[in-house]
Amino acid sequence: MSLEKNLPIGVFDSGVGGLTVAKEIMKQLPNENIIYFGDTARVPYGNKSRETVTEYSRQITTFLLSKKVKAIVIACNTASAFALETLSKEFPEVPMIGVVLPGARAAAEASQNGKIGVIGTAGTVRSGLYERYLTGIRPDCQVYGQACPLFVPLVEEGWANDPITEQVVHRYIDPLLDNWVDTIVLGCTHYPLLKDVIEQVAGPDVTLVNPAYETALELKQMLTEGDLLADERKKKGNYTYSNHTFFVSDGAEQFRAFANSILPCEMIETKDVNVKVF
Ligand code: DGL
Repeated sequence: MSLEKNLPIGVFDSGVGGLTVAKEIMKQLPNENIIYFGDTARVPYGNKSRETVTEYSRQITTFLLSKKVKAIVIACNTASAFALETLSKEFPEVPMIGVVLPGARAAAEASQNGKIGVIGTAGTVRSGLYERYLTGIRPDCQVYGQACPLFVPLVEEGWANDPITEQVVHRYIDPLLDNWVDTIVLGCTHYPLLKDVIEQVAGPDVTLVNPAYETALELKQMLTEGDLLADERKKKGNYTYSNHTFFVSDGAEQFRAFANSILPCEMIETKDVNVKVF
């Protein structure tokens, strides 16, 4: 089957975190339409097993393919770490990328002293995938993984600017600073939403790497090479929103309010999908 270049791109995450990647795709690829799925009924993925996360990701991939997408971006580190390899073999009909490899590339390049912190969910850190990619790209580097299980609920709750969040950030980031890391990968797509407070705690000598930017770049390259870039269309300011569609497995109203607060658009159509339809 040959893919049509004006089909949308499927993007998914366990919840709102993948919106940080969707936003970057909208910026770098303004002609593309996105179909986003946030698995809000089953968030968080970070404390679940490889098998469970892979099964959820398989269900979502099947759902996105039923909507006829030309490519899939796994905008979730946990799902990228656990499921990307398996799913790209199971679904060879569309190109699929994750966020871990682009993030590792950017961090390897950014670090001066080779001491790199990776913050992510317990699943992402346990998978060891960042470490594998980082030491593959840059064998001299030392990788310090730090699981931050309280970050996702804080973000989903909208507490990014709460003093409690600052205290939690200290608990997770201070041990990395004790190891003199000069670079920290935001290895969970929810974490860019805590960037300001992480930056403040980490200080000016530490570079924060957000894999979303690199992921959008890699997507652009993949679409260009596959002759799959959408035709140029009219823009509203810097962004074009009109044809993006958002699906969630629960709480469409709350998701819409959150998405509106981070995506610079006025109104987002969000549809609830019962996970049982999978
Ligand atoms: N945003 C996701 C990630 O990048 C998952 C967070 C979670 O569901 O635990 O890992």
